[in-house]
Amino acid sequence: MSTIRLGDIAPNFKAQTTEGEIDFYEYLGDGWGILFSHPADYTPVCTTELGTTAKYKSEFDKRNVKVMALSVDGLESHFGWIKDINETQNTEVNFPIIADEDKTISELYDMIHPNASATATVRSVYVIGPDKTIKLIITYPASTGRNFDELLRVIDSLQLTAYHKVATPANWNRGEEVVITPAVSNDDAEKLFPKGFKELKPYLRMTPQPELK
Ligand code: BEZ
Repeated sequence: MSTIRLGDIAPNFKAQTTEGEIDFYEYLGDGWGILFSHPADYTPVCTTELGTTAKYKSEFDKRNVKVMALSVDGLESHFGWIKDINETQNTEVNFPIIADEDKTISELYDMIHPNASATATVRSVYVIGPDKTIKLIITYPASTGRNFDELLRVIDSLQLTAYHKVATPANWNRGEEVVITPAVSNDDAEKLFPKGFKELKPYLRMTPQPELK
């Protein structure tokens, strides 16, 4: 078991997946990634989550994000389950699902929380940046399906704040005003944010969202 925290290097691994053996770093290339775990195959919430992920593929592609799912069942089980996902969710699973039967990767990424379940993974989400560091960790219990709009929203924020000296306020969504990071002086802010800014407090300055790359 390892502990993974924000800013840590995402450990690399080779895995058996529904799209063949994959080296995680090779799969990510120089883009962004999401690695997320599912408690088990043939479970209702996971079925809706994987169907939703497939439907959001174009949104992930737009953001240069590669997605990889993990479940601790075997490949045969995954292939049978994918048929059910495609049928019931009206989609085609279009990303790899890791068959982590020996739980090597689940343990590497601390996806088993023994006081929740000794054997099943919780619903972990890791967002990994192009530098292979962990940018976001969210952990949901088995009984709560993830909000994929929230994942896109956080990725928009991560990508925006990676390239501009801004941060995103509560409930921010793409296109809305952002805050200028406190380390930027007002003189520099005038140059960096040509659309201008409002100073509500010296530490709270709002500016229109710069262009997302
Ligand atoms: C589900 O994915 O539906 C699920 C998995 C484990 C426990 C409860 C629900």
